[in-house]
Amino acid sequence: MRVSVIGCGYLGAVHAAAMASLGHDVVGIDVDAAKVEALAAGRAPFYEPGLPELLVEVGATGRLTFSTDLADAAGADVHFICVGTPQMHGEFRADLTYVEAATAGLLPHLRPGDVVAGKSTVPVGTAERLAEQLTSTGATLVWNPEFLREGFAVQDTLHPDRLVYGLPTDDLGVATPEGEAARKVLDEVYAAPLADDTPLVVTDYATAQLVKVAANSFLATKISFINAMAELCEATGADVTRLADAIGYDARIGRRFLNAGLGFGGGCLPKDIRAFMARAGELGVSDALGFLREIDSINLRRRVRVVDLAREVCDGSIVGRRIAVLGAAFKPDSDDIRDSPALSVAAQMQLQGAHVTVTDPQAIENARAKWPDLRFASSAVEAARDADVVLLATEWPEYRELDPAALGEVVAHRRMLDGRNVLDPAAWRAAGWTYRALGRP
Ligand code: UDX
Repeated sequence: MRVSVIGCGYLGAVHAAAMASLGHDVVGIDVDAAKVEALAAGRAPFYEPGLPELLVEVGATGRLTFSTDLADAAGADVHFICVGTPQMHGEFRADLTYVEAATAGLLPHLRPGDVVAGKSTVPVGTAERLAEQLTSTGATLVWNPEFLREGFAVQDTLHPDRLVYGLPTDDLGVATPEGEAARKVLDEVYAAPLADDTPLVVTDYATAQLVKVAANSFLATKISFINAMAELCEATGADVTRLADAIGYDARIGRRFLNAGLGFGGGCLPKDIRAFMARAGELGVSDALGFLREIDSINLRRRVRVVDLAREVCDGSIVGRRIAVLGAAFKPDSDDIRDSPALSVAAQMQLQGAHVTVTDPQAIENARAKWPDLRFASSAVEAARDADVVLLATEWPEYRELDPAALGEVVAHRRMLDGRNVLDPAAWRAAGWTYRALGRP
């Protein structure tokens, strides 16, 4: 099939490459000429494991091209909308400017029977509005949310946990003939994952849009739940990691996403729960999502708590203290620093008078561009040199494996704050470190 992918960020670039690897002819379109140039040359414009190899693999087939011109989308059977929907400045709402611009720009290039598949995370009701704009073209909109995780994006796109199609429906909620025809087109696009028995949920627009934000709200809730338990653990001397293990053995609960620590960040979870609350307010059902405000607060409180911990281990003040922050990305295996807990804490400590040095295996460039006032080092050892406190803020594998004795040689004081509960307290204490963590005695 012929496929266009509009928006080549963390979602679209991977989607375009993955669709080409499934055998489709794909054009990826983005307004950012530098990004398009990199992708066209087979280079990933951001860090995502597996993407460089995939770009080279499909690049050799000639099935994947990139362009800055939306006119190059003309002739595709399916157009995937993969542009961002960031949080509005100073508001909880999502900014739909890019989705609206992509749709408007696509209109002149659509033919009757074309399928436009919305993947961006949008407030429920957006698909219905976009579908109206498409009416005059004869193209059909399907809402096809994307659930990929950064760091696992290639795998998640090629082998998703499930596929969701939100089709246009009649007054009784039954898919229209155009909807059924669009479904067949998408079935062909996703023939490979469907052949692998990937579950497929076919539903209406509203449900499909809600699935995405409901899933992310649930994940955020799971993380904040365990972080709330961490607060209880701190007040009682209990160990949140053992607590998570024990409750996680219950299959109804499950151990995944119960890692207590600095909490969630990134380009999705924080802004999605906020945009969801804003939308619920517009729909007159804000009470239904009142709990998400608490989820957000618990999450942000962890960042404050770790600064307090730093103060505690520094005898009451971090003013003038040298603090090494290991990690800048919002999570390992990514160079994404959007709403990164690590950088938010580093900036807070700096603001409160500490001398902060940050390191990260992949995200330093992005971090420096956004936070030019912070100091950066190229390795954990360099960052930790002469430090009064070391904070592990993003659990990259190389930080999990740090040797406490070797790191102890370069620091001024052996004080480790484990912001992700990934180090072995006994090993660090045995090497003479004061070890403190979030939710552990
Ligand atoms: C998330 C969803 O997982 C994905 O399905 C959706 O499509 C986009 O949003 P992503 O933002 O890539 O994906 O990251 P994810 O792996 O979900 O982690 C989000 C944040 O939660 C990270 O900051 C991570 O460190 C934190 N986290 C995750 C925890 O603090 N504890 C956990 O147990 C799990």
